[in-house]
Formats: sequence, C-alpha cells, structure tokens
Amino acid sequence: MNAPPVTQSRAEGPAFDETEVPRYYARKTQDILHKYGPGPRVHFHVGLFDPAVKLNTTVSQRVLKNRIVGAQEAILDHAARTWADGQSFPAHLLDIGCGLGGGSLYWAQEHGANVTGLTVANDHIPVIRELARQAGVSGRVTPRVGDVHDMTHERRYDAAYAIESSGYMDRKRLFHVVARALRPGGWFGIQEHFICRPEWTDWIDDYYKTRLGTLTEYIHAAESAGFELEQDEDVTDGVSEFWLQSMAWNTAELTRLEQGGEQASWSRERLQQSAVAHGKMFRIWRDHAVETRLLHFRLGGN
Ligand SMILES: C[S@@+](CC[C@H](N)C(=O)[O-])C[C@H]1O[C@@H](n2cnc3c(N)ncnc32)[C@H](O)[C@@H]1O
Repeated sequence: MNAPPVTQSRAEGPAFDETEVPRYYARKTQDILHKYGPGPRVHFHVGLFDPAVKLNTTVSQRVLKNRIVGAQEAILDHAARTWADGQSFPAHLLDIGCGLGGGSLYWAQEHGANVTGLTVANDHIPVIRELARQAGVSGRVTPRVGDVHDMTHERRYDAAYAIESSGYMDRKRLFHVVARALRPGGWFGIQEHFICRPEWTDWIDDYYKTRLGTLTEYIHAAESAGFELEQDEDVTDGVSEFWLQSMAWNTAELTRLEQGGEQASWSRERLQQSAVAHGKMFRIWRDHAVETRLLHFRLGGN
C-alpha cells in the first residue's frame, strides 16, 4: 500500500520508553489473543460493568471471558456514543495506540468510519490486517507502525481517540500533534487511568511500562494545544469489577493448566504474578487511588 508516511524522524528527545514499550507489546500478543480473543474485535483495555449488579466469580472460564470481552465492548460503545453526542459519527478517525485493532474495527463496523490505527508494535500489524479481513472491513481499517509523537499529519481526521494508550505518552506533545492532525472543530476522546494517590504511581507504571498522569496535567496540556474539555466522566466504579472478573479468569486458567490442560501462552508463573497484581488493582480502583475516566476534548478555532 502506498500511503504517505505517518511519522518522520524527530528533532526532540524520546517522549516515551522506545525500547521497553514495543518489547512489552511484542511479548504480549499471544497472551492478549488467548485471554481476550479470538476476535475479530480484540481489545486490551479495561471494561465497564454495572456497579449496582453483584456478579459472582465462581463460574466457568468461558462465562468469565464472555463477561470480560462484553465489558470491553461496553466501554467502547459507551464512549463512542457519548463522544459523538447525538451528532453524526466521524467519517475519518485516528486510533492512537490501537493495540490489536479492536477499537478500529469497532468504529469501522458499527459506525462505517475509515480508521487509521497507530501502534509502536510492529508485529501487531499483520494481526490487525487479518482480524480486519475477518470482520470484512479491510478497506476501512489502515494499521500503521509509528510513534505518535512524530506524527506529521495535518487536518486529516474528523476525530481521534486514545484508549489506554495516552498513559505511555508525553501529553504535551500528544495534544499538539493531535491538534495539528484534526480538522477544525474535531474532537479527541481519551480513555485513561489517572493518578489520584501518587504512592501507587511507581508500582503501576512499572507493571504496565506506563507514565500515568493526573487529570490536571492532561487538562493543562490540552488547553495549551487549543483543546477545550467538553466531557469528563469518572467510570472507576464500573471498572473496578473488571479486575475481579479478570483475576477470576487468571485463576481459572491456572486451574486448567494444573489439571493438565495445554499451555496456550500464559505460563503458570505469569498467571500467578498477574493474579496477585489484579488483587492490588482491584483495591486501588475500588479506593479511587487511581481513577479511570473518559475525557472528550474539542479543538477550538475555525
Ligand atoms: C494498553 S494498549 C491499548 C490498545 C488499544 N487501544 C485497545 O484499547 O485495545 C496500548 C497501545 O498503545 C500503543 N502505544 C504506546 N506508545 C505509543 C506511541 N508512542 N505511539 C503510538 N502508539 C503507542 C501500544 O503500541 C499499544 O498498542
């Protein structure tokens, strides 16, 4: 395909961990496909549950997976409809940090959008292409490898979104790059985790290789790039259940392996580490030491 380059070499220093983050995602591909797949829409983000409904976790691994994937789809659908705010859905979208392309496929399938998905993980590209083919939206989903900080697109997209990817990025540069890439009046939607109690920052950043920030930091970075905050929704209470259901899936997978099941991707050691980490995540989210929010920014000016 002869699409123009998404990025160019930069003059400034690295804005994210260029070694660790791509390596982390290259390592995770099979784990993500096994736990959240088979797709075609495969997501690597938290999901939204109804906080008023008490779900038990002593159910089959299949039920747990269905719930997890359903909740991932639910948060995406909720965000998309909130961000579109009753207006027509954007025709040209930029999916920043697209993972295995679940969000790009969602927008292409459900809202007929043309989506460019950007990722730093080289080997995710053929996976996304294959999943887009399975979903019948190859012509509308264009995955690209590149670092968003170096993106040079100008006035190309009606909207952009970053689902749990902005936490890896330099927010000032991110908002400036996105402001340049959007058409006037375009919007930028963000689903992200925000630090409320700083004593948890190092542990989470080390676990996910992120650089999570505060809501204030995002709002200042957005304003300096010409964005105005239109919507800030705290979905933490609906998300904390995700950690519990996800932890239950991990322990079910561990039991499956202990009973002689074939190892698909996750080793026993990784499952154990992940289960312990999930217990912490659940407590952190339930106590609002970290909050998950859906932010919607609009680019000002004509
Ligand atoms: C937690 S995953 C989220 C994936 C996807 N948005 C989803 O919801 O399934 C984070 C993604 O951010 C991407 N990413 C991290 N740093 C990036 C950068 N500097 N430029 C572009 N993508 C980046 C990674 O490649 C990965 O795909």
